[in-house]
Amino acid sequence: MPDDGLARDATRAGRDVVAALQAALGDAVLAGDAIPLRNLCDWSSLDAVRPLAVVRPDTTAGVAAAMRLCAEHGVAVVPQGGLTGLCGGALPIAGGIALSLERLVGVEEIDPAAATITVRAGTPLETVQQAAADEGYLMPLDLGARGSCAIGGNLATNAGGNRVLRYGMARELVLGLEVVLPDGTIMTSLNKMLKNNAGYDLRQLFIGSEGTLGIITRAVLRLFPQPACVSAAMCGVGSYEQVLALLHAARRELGAQLSAFEVMWPDYWDVVTGISGVRNPLAGRHAFYVLVETHGSDAAIDPERFQSWLERQAEAGLAEDAAVAQSLAEMQAFWRTRDAAGEFVQLLGMHEAFDIGLPVGAIDAFAQGCRRALEQRLPGVVALFYGHIADGNLHIVACLPGAVPPPKEAIQAAVYETVQQFGGTVSAEHGIGLSKKRWLPFTRNPVELALMRTIKHALDPRNLLNPGKVL
Ligand code: LAC
Ligand code: ZN
Repeated sequence: MPDDGLARDATRAGRDVVAALQAALGDAVLAGDAIPLRNLCDWSSLDAVRPLAVVRPDTTAGVAAAMRLCAEHGVAVVPQGGLTGLCGGALPIAGGIALSLERLVGVEEIDPAAATITVRAGTPLETVQQAAADEGYLMPLDLGARGSCAIGGNLATNAGGNRVLRYGMARELVLGLEVVLPDGTIMTSLNKMLKNNAGYDLRQLFIGSEGTLGIITRAVLRLFPQPACVSAAMCGVGSYEQVLALLHAARRELGAQLSAFEVMWPDYWDVVTGISGVRNPLAGRHAFYVLVETHGSDAAIDPERFQSWLERQAEAGLAEDAAVAQSLAEMQAFWRTRDAAGEFVQLLGMHEAFDIGLPVGAIDAFAQGCRRALEQRLPGVVALFYGHIADGNLHIVACLPGAVPPPKEAIQAAVYETVQQFGGTVSAEHGIGLSKKRWLPFTRNPVELALMRTIKHALDPRNLLNPGKVL
């Protein structure tokens, strides 16, 4: 490494900023051997990185003080939530500070008239869901990592999940935000009103910016009534045209009650139903497996209505086979076929995971084209397809068993080139972080990318907040 003035300056700035942070924030600063291993990486497959220090403030003022000191010393800051991101957005930067929101936790208020919940950024998603449920409300954002992910990270990445078709992405659930800007300024905008057209909608800048524009410290979220009843069915379907017809029928006849429509391709189905503890509720083999769920408002009417809707679809030939969950345990067993995707690491070893977005009608043609592209380049490839099809969101898991090192690049190129051909997006819900950065131009045109850089520069002119992520 060249021992130039720049490297020496960087080392000195690093030493100075840690001392300044320790003087201001005391034991909220963990440096050297005290840095917890968990803060060195996230759930992406990227290598761990050791920051100068991990700072864990328990107030917004503490976050602002840390940010101000880092700005003064010209040291980069990476915000961290529950560290469950899959794209490396929360991966520390060598020579930078990791600013963890893990101690900025708690539900501040539930406002029944506004139907809002005000939360601190480090609060685990499941804790927010439970606090809402305890007061008879539904906080509808939900995803597999609910027990570990933090609400601030969910908003910073505009998380999606399983119920987007009914309640929207994370950004649709946010009414107000408090954000610490790269220079340490606190922007408090804890709006509770559904309508507020007074100027630019600043909160939407930060939601989905993956911690590159500001650090979310608090949020006001929308609440919905708890559903009075939930119904779920697993359907075996014969063709993608019939999957689309079933979705159309579900939207038309189940209306706003439709809360999930998850589709699994046979390769995926065969692997997950082979996992011990996962039960296959259907007999026979089908071209597609569809999990349909509704949130009802009347337990005396809605489950029956759902059952008869399903019978009509079977009579019309849209479902070759169908099973309705008769108990909570059965419903959980149905969801287990979908949530088992979280166990692919143990099952398949190192693999590439994708989060593609496509026009809904094109998804199966894409899946076929993508499989062909993968098989041509990588004979013996294993590729599993599943996803939130009503949202135009397809997940793919792909690996080449036995290949050392794993052909990461070749798998990515085959998938993303096909995405580009189909006019899709390289990320529907997980974000860009570090791991999809080089593929962003496959999805965003030069004008869009230039405008993103303009916004980044306006808010963070010295490129100190999560530098090198997204753009
Ligand atoms: C899922 C995650 C990977 O839907 O987004 O399973
Ligand atoms: Zn998903």
